[in-house]
Amino acid sequence: MRRRTMVALVVAGVATAVTVGALARRWIWYGAKTSTPPDEDAAFTAFAPGGQASFFVNGPVGRVMAKLMPIVERGVYQNVAEMLDVQPDDEMLDIGCGPGAFLATKARDVQRVVGLDPSPVMLHEAERRLAGRIAAGTAALVSGNAAALPFGDDEFSAATAIFAPAKPSEVFRVLRPGGRFARAGASSWRTPTPE
Ligand SMILES: C[S@@+](CC[C@H](N)C(=O)[O-])C[C@H]1O[C@@H](n2cnc3c(N)ncnc32)[C@H](O)[C@@H]1O
Repeated sequence: MRRRTMVALVVAGVATAVTVGALARRWIWYGAKTSTPPDEDAAFTAFAPGGQASFFVNGPVGRVMAKLMPIVERGVYQNVAEMLDVQPDDEMLDIGCGPGAFLATKARDVQRVVGLDPSPVMLHEAERRLAGRIAAGTAALVSGNAAALPFGDDEFSAATAIFAPAKPSEVFRVLRPGGRFARAGASSWRTPTPE
């Protein structure tokens, strides 16, 4: 069998295993009958180090996901950028930035971007994508949790959370007046209402 075919089969196999594994775990957590979504805190702890689903964004599975997400989410990034109406003078925060693909593609011309994520694997991948901007001082990556954003009040003009948890009170604290927030996520990821 040719080497390229072998590689394609291995990648397809890993992607299938990851998807089936994630669906199986989701089924087990939520329960087959009730399909109850996780509580508010679960959204902020499940994927963080030590959380039930941290395997999904760390270790070998995390490395595969870091490569797959930018490919499968390309259309989502485009929709979010349009919803956000990205402007050149924006100072933008991406909460749960993952491999940094949204910032590197749809926010490449904005004044300043900051990516926040608790996963070292994702931050490493994002660092690779944003290396030029980090060196130029117009991008930064921060390890942290969306539950308590490690930023001052009114720091950003725009924020995003793409398939990542976000806490409205924290988002609107770090956004300056008139700031915009766009998010994309699975409907079962419960988001608390503004306090
Ligand atoms: C499905 S990935 C999406 C990554 C990226 N937004 C994208 O669309 O390419 C979810 C990301 O949210 C991050 N995440 C999970 N829990 C988080 C939390 N409590 N605070 C911040 N980020 C979190 C994960 O580490 C992961 O990188």
